[in-house]
Amino acid sequence: MLRMKSKKLYIETYGCQMNFSDSEIVVSVMQGRDYQITRDAREADVIFINTCSIRDNAEQRVWKRLRELKAHKKHNPGLRIGVLGCMAERLKMRLLEEEHAVDLIAGPDAYRSLPELLSAAASGQKGANVLLSEEETYAEISPVKYNSNGVSAFISIMRGCENFCSYCVVPFTRGKERSRDPETIVEEAAALFRKGYREITLLGQNVNSYHWAQEDGPVRFPELIERVALVDSALRVRFATSHPRDVSDELLQAIARNHNLCKAIHLPVQSGSPAMLKLMNRKYDPEWYMNRIRAIREHIPDCAISTDIITGFCNETEEDHGATLSIMDRVGYDHAFMFKYSERPGTLAARHFNDNVPEKVKSQRLQEIIAKQRELSLKSNQKDVGKVFEVLVESFSRKSKAHLSGRNSQNKVIVFPKKGYKPGDYVEVKITGCTPATLLGEPLEAD
Ligand code: SAH
Ligand code: SF4
Ligand code: F3S
Repeated sequence: MLRMKSKKLYIETYGCQMNFSDSEIVVSVMQGRDYQITRDAREADVIFINTCSIRDNAEQRVWKRLRELKAHKKHNPGLRIGVLGCMAERLKMRLLEEEHAVDLIAGPDAYRSLPELLSAAASGQKGANVLLSEEETYAEISPVKYNSNGVSAFISIMRGCENFCSYCVVPFTRGKERSRDPETIVEEAAALFRKGYREITLLGQNVNSYHWAQEDGPVRFPELIERVALVDSALRVRFATSHPRDVSDELLQAIARNHNLCKAIHLPVQSGSPAMLKLMNRKYDPEWYMNRIRAIREHIPDCAISTDIITGFCNETEEDHGATLSIMDRVGYDHAFMFKYSERPGTLAARHFNDNVPEKVKSQRLQEIIAKQRELSLKSNQKDVGKVFEVLVESFSRKSKAHLSGRNSQNKVIVFPKKGYKPGDYVEVKITGCTPATLLGEPLEAD
C-alpha cells in the first residue's frame, strides 16, 4: 500500500512561557494535518519561528535567525518558513516585506488557520492571518508536549491583557483578555497527571483576573486553582503571573490551605519609585505593594517571592533608582528577572514620554540591581541550609549524571546525589550547601 510520507515541522520558540505553551498548540494543529515534529531544522519541510516583541533585543534575535534561515532556504527552495506570535502581530505585512524568505505570518489567535496558510504558501502565495480574537482560547485543543521533561507542564488558562502598562507591547500583540472554560483546564490537568506529570503551571499575563461567567456565579482564580489542586494531592500547582493590584487574601488563603499549591509567588514590582509606577500605569504604589507582601508573609510564612524589574524607564532619576534598590531590600526577593527599559513602538510610553535615560546609565543601574539581587538570593539560599524540603525531581543535573535536579515548593532548584531516585519522584532532601542560584543537598534515608 502506498502511504503519503508525512512532512516534517521544525519549530523554534522565543519569549515567555505562554509562547512555549502556544507552540504546543501549533504542533497539535499541525499533527492533525499529518506533520511530524523534527528536532533537526535541516530536514524540515516547514520551519515555524514563534516570536516575542517584549524588548527590542528579543526582536533582534529573531531577525538574526531569519537571516540564517534565508541562507538555508537557498539550498532548499521547497522549505516554507512561517513567523508566528507577537512579532508577526506587531509588524504584520511589514515582516513579509522586509524578510523575503518568510512565506507566512500568523498572530497568536490565528493558529487554527496555519494549515490553510501553508497550503497557500505551497502554491507560491504569501499567507497572513493576524486577526486578534475576543474568544479564542484553543480550549479543546490538546497541546502536544514535544519538548518536555515529562514531569512539569504549562497550561494556558487565559489569553490577552488589557492592563496597558505604559511600556508594554503585550496588549497590542495579544489582544483582549479572555479566560478559558475551567472544565477544560481541570481536564487537561487530570490528563497530564495520568500521563505521569507531577507539576503544572497555570499561565496568563494576569492570572488573578481569571473570570469565567456561568449561571451559578462566576469562577474566579482562587476557586480555579483549588479545583486544579483537587485533581490529585501529588500534583503540584503553580501559576504565573500575578499583578500586585489583584492579589487577594482569598487567593493567599487558598494557597495556605493546600499542600500542593506551591509556596512561591511571582509578583512583578517593576520599580520601587511611586513616580515611576505612576508613569508606568501599574495602578499601585510602593505602599500598596508592601501591604500585599505583608499579606503574603502573614498567610504563607514560608512563601518565596520573586519579581520583575525594569530599570531606566522614562525620566528615572538616581533617587527613583535608589527606591527600587530599597524595595528589593525591604521585600528580600528570592529571585528576580531584571531588564533595561526598551521602548516599544505604539505603546503609551513611546507616544508620550521620552526614553531619556542614557544607555550607559541604564547599564550601570542594571548592574547595581543585579548585584543587589545576587546578594539577596544568596542570603535567601543560606537561610535554607540545614532545612529539609520535599523535592520533585525533574531531570539529571546538568553538570553530573550522578546527580539529580529538582525543585522545592518555593521553586528553588535543588541538586542532590541520585541514589535510587528518578525524574517524577518526590524526595525529602536535607540542604547542606548553596550557591546564589542553587541549593545542594542529601536525600534523607528512607526507612
Ligand atoms: N504580565 C506580566 C509580565 C509580562 S512581560 C506582568 O505584568 O507582570 C515580562 C516582563 O517583561 C515584565 O514584567 C517587565 O518587567 C518586562 N518588560 C515588559 N515590557 C518591557 C519593556 N518595554 N522594556 C523592558 N522590560 C519590559
Ligand atoms: Fe504587559 Fe502590564 Fe499586561 Fe503585564 S500586565 S502583560 S506588563 S500590560
Ligand atoms: Fe513576548 Fe509576546 Fe510573551 S511579546 S513575552 S511572547 S506575550
